Amino acid sequence: MSLSLSAEQPATPDAADDGVWLECIECGETFAPFEDVRYTCDECDGLLEVRYADLPTFDDFEGEGVWRYADALPLEEGVTTQEGATPLYEVPRLEDSVGVEALRIKHEGMNPTGSFKDRGMTVGVAVARELGVGRLACASTGNTSAALAAYGSRGGMETLVLLPAGKVAAGKIAQASLHGARILEVDGNFDACLDIVQELAEAGEAYLLNSLNPFRLEGQKTIGLEILEGFRDDYGEFPDRIVLPVGNAGNTSALYKAFRELVQAGALSEDEVPKLVGVQAEGAAPMVEAIENGADEVRRWDDVETRATAIRIGNPVNAPKALPGIRETGGTAISVSDEEITEAQRDLAREGIGVEPASAASVAGLRKLRAEGIVDDDERVACLTTGHLLKDPDAAAAAGNDPEPVPADTEGVLEHLQNE
Ligand code: F0G
Repeated sequence: MSLSLSAEQPATPDAADDGVWLECIECGETFAPFEDVRYTCDECDGLLEVRYADLPTFDDFEGEGVWRYADALPLEEGVTTQEGATPLYEVPRLEDSVGVEALRIKHEGMNPTGSFKDRGMTVGVAVARELGVGRLACASTGNTSAALAAYGSRGGMETLVLLPAGKVAAGKIAQASLHGARILEVDGNFDACLDIVQELAEAGEAYLLNSLNPFRLEGQKTIGLEILEGFRDDYGEFPDRIVLPVGNAGNTSALYKAFRELVQAGALSEDEVPKLVGVQAEGAAPMVEAIENGADEVRRWDDVETRATAIRIGNPVNAPKALPGIRETGGTAISVSDEEITEAQRDLAREGIGVEPASAASVAGLRKLRAEGIVDDDERVACLTTGHLLKDPDAAAAAGNDPEPVPADTEGVLEHLQNE
């Protein structure tokens, strides 16, 4: 199986361009990377992956941020606003209360537009430029649209975003708007938006930059590479487990690919690969259902609902890449309630880390798995927090303290404080 951890490095096909090609994960068909626009396999419609004739080891990485890992990426440079190199925060109180040997928070909200999507866009928009396309498009629960709008503008391209009406947090729409995207509000959920934008892309109306686009996931691999290097530098060992929120399962697929490539390059042994744990909201948990049932395919959920609007997704398009990632690494998937998500958002906020609701799902999931004894107390764990608090100011205000009206004089303020 091509997505097995122990898969051999494939022979370089004729289609390769400078040692880079696209390969179908289902039938193995290979394609030239930058000649034609293509998102899935011409033969069987399977998902595509970028493959490399030469895979780097840790010694090949130099510099800072996403482009530190250029040797693991399809291009030498991107359309960049210095994405990546995000903090790997210590959270001593949370670590104690969860009860693990070490807990670190990889805060992707610290990227230029406030989410991990920037890592994918710096690569994806550069590939779009290489292909010579004019207009870029995505369906989005918000963050992808913010990043696409920003990176598309920086690359000098038009952008079009399709959003589920009434279900996108305010900060994200503001970003897409100011960066100049045309915003189409669709009377349907994210999955409907993605169906439409895929058809627009197939019809040649725009270049698709959802995580179905294999180049975007290449940029997102760098989250995994940074976590590995961060743990190695601080603890002398790689983490036992990485816990992350799941929507379309792009990150789950990307992190797994990063680890698989390091194993193929001989830079990581199979037993050093961190277990990947996906966390979904209870109201949108098709991946969890598939993992729990041992299913090879994910059943599409038509009705999804959660306060964590970023992961309000019923049809995780990268499931064929992510299910092997979770299984081959010995990981699992778990769902959490909206209340557990909000509680975890407060836990992180108490450590000074401000995240949007979807991000807090990782911490909520870890807490639950630890309580169930699936995570051991001697584990070193990284939780991924995917987006910044200011993305969803309404959720933050609802989860936090209410402002207290006071008169405009010190005496009145003192009285108010004493009356508590
Ligand atoms: N966390 C946040 C904050 C997100 O915005 C997303 C996805 C995810 C987690 C899930 O990541 O898809 O790789 O499993 N947001 C997309 C968007 C769908 O349109 O912004 P995944």
